[in-house]
Amino acid sequence: MRTPIIAGNWKLNKNPKEAQEFLNAIEGKLPESGVEAVIGAPAVDLYTLVEGSKNTPLKISAENSYFEDEGAFTGENSPKVLAEMGVEYVIIGHSERREYFHETDEDINKKAVKIIANGLTPIVCCGETLEQREANETEGFVTGQIEAALKGISAADVANLVIAYEPIWAIGTGKTATSDQAQEVVHVIREKVASLYDADTADKVRILYGGSVKPESIKELMSKEDIDGGLVGGASLDPESFIALVNYQK
Ligand code: 13P
Repeated sequence: MRTPIIAGNWKLNKNPKEAQEFLNAIEGKLPESGVEAVIGAPAVDLYTLVEGSKNTPLKISAENSYFEDEGAFTGENSPKVLAEMGVEYVIIGHSERREYFHETDEDINKKAVKIIANGLTPIVCCGETLEQREANETEGFVTGQIEAALKGISAADVANLVIAYEPIWAIGTGKTATSDQAQEVVHVIREKVASLYDADTADKVRILYGGSVKPESIKELMSKEDIDGGLVGGASLDPESFIALVNYQK
């Protein structure tokens, strides 16, 4: 049984004071079991979030890290230090990082390897543009991104990591993929993992959908066989909305 994950991605929003206010607002309102609640936040908020969520069900994710632990890499964040701090997940390969910061499949693979080596769990993002969808290139493109990201990673490590399918045309646009569209691609990703590894690994890896997920749409998405959760941008910023998302089973 794959435990569902509802992960917020705050992107470049909130300062530490606002992060603490968010923690205060969600206190005691997260499910104790059955679903993992995660917040991905800017690096400057992570200390506040990790310290403030101790002894609560909330897990904390970084939105990026570098693929080296230390050295002369001005401005980067160390996966080793993230692990030491008590961060548990790291989002990598988000389409915004690929587009605005020119991250390549190779960078993302190096990050995944290093994140795993530090005992953290990567949330590996993939997703096609509208042009690619309209040209029927979605499946080939997305499975190619996943194959490149997982290069050299063992089956046991792949079984433990998280993939997020986020069609770029659905991010921040209010245009959610239908649950059938999301299920279709998520299923193809799972089949790709089966072909690269084996059926057991594919059965264990958790695959999320992201792109304009809202409290109103989460239940329908989660009813789909292969969708194991959501990676949520805008709707994760408001505590009441996040509480509604993580309590979708109620
Ligand atoms: P929105 O939920 O704001 O569309 O963002 C999705 C996303 O990019 C999450 O990583």
